[in-house]
Amino acid sequence: MKKLLYLFLAMFVAVGLYACVPDDDSVDELPLETPENQDESDSDTTSETGKTLIVYYSYTNNVHAVVSDLRTQMKADAVRVQPAEKGLDYAANNYAIGGAQIQAIRDNPDKESSYPAIDPVDVKFEEYDTIIVAAPLWWSNMATPLQTFLFNHGAKMAGKQIGLIVSSASSGISGVESDAKRLIPNGKFLTPSLWIRSSQTSGCHSMIAEWLKKIGYVK
Ligand SMILES: Cc1cc2nc3c(=O)[nH]c(=O)nc-3n(C[C@H](O)[C@H](O)[C@H](O)COP(=O)(O)O)c2cc1C
Repeated sequence: MKKLLYLFLAMFVAVGLYACVPDDDSVDELPLETPENQDESDSDTTSETGKTLIVYYSYTNNVHAVVSDLRTQMKADAVRVQPAEKGLDYAANNYAIGGAQIQAIRDNPDKESSYPAIDPVDVKFEEYDTIIVAAPLWWSNMATPLQTFLFNHGAKMAGKQIGLIVSSASSGISGVESDAKRLIPNGKFLTPSLWIRSSQTSGCHSMIAEWLKKIGYVK
């Protein structure tokens, strides 16, 4: 009987521990996150610009962490782009797969087949005035899944205010800015873009707060 009690106790603790593990992939199941899902306790800033969408990709979750912090500072829907092909190791062999994908786009930027397929995403672009694009830098360019998203939908962002956030280990972000301008040709880009090095991810809160003031999003 005592053994049975211990068994139940162990099961209870195990279930409890599992429930505490943060689920970084939760957005995968919910492509479009709305502010209703957000903890708004920290969202005391006011948007000057109307409804906002954040669109991002994140392979090793640095951009995901930045976007999570950003969403404590503004009300915004968010969509996380996901490659259609699962389980690719973009960093293996000196980032070979990511490098090959970037090269294919550089060689033929106007051809749809240059861009890796992504999971379909249903976004009503007409609802948004401001779109924040948050991207990892790959080989000095924008990570390829996000380039695919913008290749497919960038034209629908014409006339909208576009903010750009880039995460890189150390490389400067001008190549990513050029990609964004090529893929959203008629976007009204807010300046400056925000560059957060991967080593600055955990301290990004104040960088984001400063940036939102600089681009005029908050007073
Ligand atoms: C395929 C690939 C290529 C990369 N190329 C560069 C690079 O050229 N310069 C750089 O500073 N960082 C490079 N990085 C590092 C990422 O930009 C950096 O780790 C970023 O924070 C990743 O964001 P994420 O965690 O949201 O995916 C590369 C990463 C990958 C996976």
